[in-house]
Amino acid sequence: DVDPIYERYADSFAIGAAVEPFQLEGESGEVLKKHYNSIVAENVMKPISIQPEEGKFNFEEADKIVKFAKENNMEIRFHTLIWHSQVPEWFFLDEKGKPMVDETDVKKREKNKKIVLKRVEKHVKEIVKRYKNDIDSWDVVNETIDDGGGLRESQWYQLTGTDYIKVAFETARRFAGKDAKLYINDYNTEVEPKRTELYNLVKDLLADGVPIDGVGHQGHIQLGWPSLQETEDSINMFASLGLDNQITELDISLYGWPPRPAYPTYEDIPEERFQAQAERYNDLFELYEKLDDKISSVTFWGIADNHTWLNDRAEEYNDGVGVDAPFVFGRDYKVKPAYWAIMD
Ligand code: XIL
Repeated sequence: DVDPIYERYADSFAIGAAVEPFQLEGESGEVLKKHYNSIVAENVMKPISIQPEEGKFNFEEADKIVKFAKENNMEIRFHTLIWHSQVPEWFFLDEKGKPMVDETDVKKREKNKKIVLKRVEKHVKEIVKRYKNDIDSWDVVNETIDDGGGLRESQWYQLTGTDYIKVAFETARRFAGKDAKLYINDYNTEVEPKRTELYNLVKDLLADGVPIDGVGHQGHIQLGWPSLQETEDSINMFASLGLDNQITELDISLYGWPPRPAYPTYEDIPEERFQAQAERYNDLFELYEKLDDKISSVTFWGIADNHTWLNDRAEEYNDGVGVDAPFVFGRDYKVKPAYWAIMD
């Protein structure tokens, strides 16, 4: 019998996992209770799950996760109030059902912008009112920066500029209260040009009075990328703005990008890959611990290797056959070398 991960890091930060409601039961539920003291929904709190049709809020699945977390004394991260992906199309249609981005008339564009911002406000307000006493940290907006630098040209951005970000944060603050922790979340926050772009955006928003408390670093990383130095610099950059940092979606893929070639089955993964992964986990957690006054939680994007979105990606790029193995627990929930690496 092995020691709980969260106890090992109790003096530093919370240890979380992303889950689907079905994972709350059975063996995955047991591992979750034992090793993690924070939880986040892998999908069921995204806009498409919570408000699939305008005005029709669906909290059923999200409630299951909140209930489980409360019963087991876990922190909860909310992921995510606003995002360009997994968002229903109705947010961006005008009253005639036409995509607002196609509108060329300046007056109508102004009107559409107001409608979209009202929709953002309503979405955020309904959710925050329901969960304000339950959630510890909120991903208010997700992935606002483009991979090449610059702001992501999502429909949100095309229709409102950065006002959707402002309205989302202001509404979250208004209804969640002053103690709520509000995050801007993104991936590849370690590397240029993205991290400087995100830094500049956050700096401008803060100067504008937008209530941001921290940066969420997704942490979908690889064995050799990004470097530890880049990771450290990024945390320090955002901390220098007076912000908290959270690692929100950690997984360490065995592959580069794209994940090709991938091992066809789990049994094909050579032991040395798991050793290399353990070293990577060791270095990373050593760094997180060193920076623990700047990092309040570290969340894995799953519980164990039997359920990871990276498998979908491995399959996608390898004609339907390929697996990944990003976590510290194996497919059978047994500890991997990576577990011992972070517990040392
Ligand atoms: C992923 C989920 O893991 C998948 O199940 C789903 O099909 C797509 O979304 N960045 C994020 C997460 O912020 O919400 C994504 O989660 C992974 C990338």
